[in-house]
Amino acid sequence: MISMIFAVDPNFLIGKGNDLPWDYKEDLKYFQNTTKGKTVLMGLETFKSIFSRIGRPLPNRKSVVASLEPFAYEGVEVISDLFSYLKAPHDEEIFIIGGKTIYELSFPYADRLYITHIKKEHQGDVYLKKFDLSSFKKIQYEEHTDLIFAIYERVK
Ligand SMILES: NC(=O)c1ccc[n+]([C@@H]2O[C@H](COP(=O)([O-])OP(=O)(O)OC[C@H]3O[C@@H](n4cnc5c(N)ncnc54)[C@H](OP(=O)(O)O)[C@@H]3O)[C@@H](O)[C@H]2O)c1
Repeated sequence: MISMIFAVDPNFLIGKGNDLPWDYKEDLKYFQNTTKGKTVLMGLETFKSIFSRIGRPLPNRKSVVASLEPFAYEGVEVISDLFSYLKAPHDEEIFIIGGKTIYELSFPYADRLYITHIKKEHQGDVYLKKFDLSSFKKIQYEEHTDLIFAIYERVK
């Protein structure tokens, strides 16, 4: 199963430079808990962003990095053929964790979306195209003071 996990503000803002436009501890905790022990797939830019934040790949997860450049990092699987990876059968839930390019390319293959809706508008420069959620049904909706944790599943 292919899942995507991301946080967006009301204008579909997701990034500022190569970082997040906000710092919501609650969301980082939700991300950690949801993806812990799982395989996470990201574009090279998101890998670099994580690396510059924590100095290593995300711990306790298997990292897969999509890149068309020759790139290697110990313990990280690098794929150049994103679409073959997305189309291949996977026994486990694969989490797409960004960024803009990889979310937009992967959206047609996503079975489930974990969206953190940030209630406040923020400043930044990386926006997602508004996804058409008409073929998804909401299976979870948890409202907090600043955020909403929602999960959507594709209707087969
Ligand atoms: N709000 C959130 O939840 C969230 C989460 C994650 C990231 N973000 C934000 O997203 C932004 C980064 O997005 P981005 O689009 O610049 O970078 P990205 O999606 O992380 O990475 C893009 C890279 O993916 C590789 N790629 C592209 N198409 C490919 C294909 N068909 N097959 C294999 N690899 C391919 C390319 O690597 P090469 O150039 O090496 O070929 C490309 O440079 C940042 O602002 C970040 O903070 C937000």
